[in-house]
Amino acid sequence: MQIFAHLSDLHLDGGERADARAAAVVRYLRELEHPVDAAFVTGDIADHGEPEEYQRAAELLDLPFPVVSCPGNHDVRAPFREVLLGEPAGDGPINHAVEAAGALLVSCDSTIPGKGAGYLADETLAWLDETLSGHEGPSLIAFHHPPLDVGVPLVDVIRQTGEHRLAAVLRRHPEVAALLCGHVHTGAATMFAGVPLRIAPGVVSGSLLPVEPGAGRGWDEGGPLDFDGPPSLLLHVLHDDGRLTTHHRTVTK
Ligand SMILES: [Fe+2]
Ligand SMILES: [Fe+2]
Repeated sequence: MQIFAHLSDLHLDGGERADARAAAVVRYLRELEHPVDAAFVTGDIADHGEPEEYQRAAELLDLPFPVVSCPGNHDVRAPFREVLLGEPAGDGPINHAVEAAGALLVSCDSTIPGKGAGYLADETLAWLDETLSGHEGPSLIAFHHPPLDVGVPLVDVIRQTGEHRLAAVLRRHPEVAALLCGHVHTGAATMFAGVPLRIAPGVVSGSLLPVEPGAGRGWDEGGPLDFDGPPSLLLHVLHDDGRLTTHHRTVTK
């Protein structure tokens, strides 16, 4: 059994509020009885894609276990690579895979530079297919944008499209335990192409379903978002049979 943390949508913007919430989640991870096997950070790490925002992210995410990060629509590839990942700057998709505790942890870039919506480029899907083919055992695949509607109108209009291409890759790799994403700013679980899809809550804020108080708020009043709830994250337990159980944790101190 392995345990993976999953946080998302820190939206670090140089301000105190986002910083304090991200720092609280990181403190929670540092104070665990045992380190997790790895942590996933599924995008919108910086709010404006500024190098200073990634500098702060790099400080916060310098943790005693592997951290697998993918960019979101608020991120900018060149400083993400250079400052957060310590790699040469470049504008191509940011795709990585690492092995941790026998599992293959894959992060794919679902961003379209300059756009809110997402799409996995052909080169990303070809890389994913090849990467999964070279591994035996369970794998987890992370990207920012969910590849289907999730019931949050604000997000459904900027979800990942072209998803039938991802579904075709997944059909060739039944050992994929789950897909992990962010972007929605709410903890949620669904299925995509027969594979569990787990969505991490937004560290910086929560989004609202149409039935919830505040869902009708216009952008001049702060938009249909919850800024009052405490930050939270997911802990994924990967069982030896390849099944994933997901636990939701709220950080209150
Ligand atoms: Fe976000
Ligand atoms: Fe996003």
